[in-house]
Amino acid sequence: MKVRKAVFPVAGLGTRFLPATKAQPKVMLPLVDKPIIHYVVDEAVASGVEDIIFVTGRGQVAIENYFDISFELEQFLRSKNKTDELEQVSGISNLINSCYVRQKEALGLGHAIMQVRHLIGNEPFAVFLGDDVIDSEEPCMQQMLAIYERYKCSVVALERVEKSQTSSYGIVEAKEIDSRLFKLDGMVEKPDPEDAPSDLAIIGRYILTPEIFDILERTEPGKGGEIQLTDAICALLQRQAVYGYLFDGIRHDTGDKLGFLKATVEFALARDDIGSQFRDYLKTVKL
Ligand code: G1P
Repeated sequence: MKVRKAVFPVAGLGTRFLPATKAQPKVMLPLVDKPIIHYVVDEAVASGVEDIIFVTGRGQVAIENYFDISFELEQFLRSKNKTDELEQVSGISNLINSCYVRQKEALGLGHAIMQVRHLIGNEPFAVFLGDDVIDSEEPCMQQMLAIYERYKCSVVALERVEKSQTSSYGIVEAKEIDSRLFKLDGMVEKPDPEDAPSDLAIIGRYILTPEIFDILERTEPGKGGEIQLTDAICALLQRQAVYGYLFDGIRHDTGDKLGFLKATVEFALARDDIGSQFRDYLKTVKL
């Protein structure tokens, strides 16, 4: 069955980015002039997944408004003949078919995914974590969909990380079966380096089979007292194969202050309009 729907769990409180995230969703912070979430939605659209379910929390209406029509703004731009800006703004509201579900309490990523069960039904679906912005020639999700097409099993995106970083990620135990492709044997959420089964970290892109929902319903709170998606996928492994794909691309962790700054610099340098001026400016910065 084709992967038609994507889930974007965006209800996180953005505690790594306070106070900027006190009154706005962290995925609405801009990388140059586009909110983080827009880059991630672009990846979904470029991969052919246009039905997007956002799992939001209180105080996140900015995301809904962003993907909706902005009537006054469009009217204003039209009246001033600002056609480029008008095209840009109205294009956003036509980008996706969106739907919003509330996660009433921040009980973890697994809990966020449980909120969409009734909208997904019995289909495989994609999950995009908004913090991870992936810059790649072929969209990361498209790379993963090719693996899904081959095996019709769940797939998680993988990246090698420093051993000292394992406590920030889900870490897998896996056998390499092809170039970039791993068959998973287990996984642990945020292990200390000495307990990590490998240096292969799960990055915020998943394709999941619908069997995950039954498992999630029974998953007890794990690391940090939250219902962890990693624990549910680990249990899914007992029933069906799960693959990991070492995607080709560069991942920016924009939920982290340093990651956000690095992504800002990279994206600004790559811009046609301001890239060269920004490069010249950086050369003058005293380090
Ligand atoms: C989540 C997952 C973790 C994964 C990470 C990728 O953690 O729980 O397994 O490695 O995303 O970004 P979070 O960063 O939301 O704490």
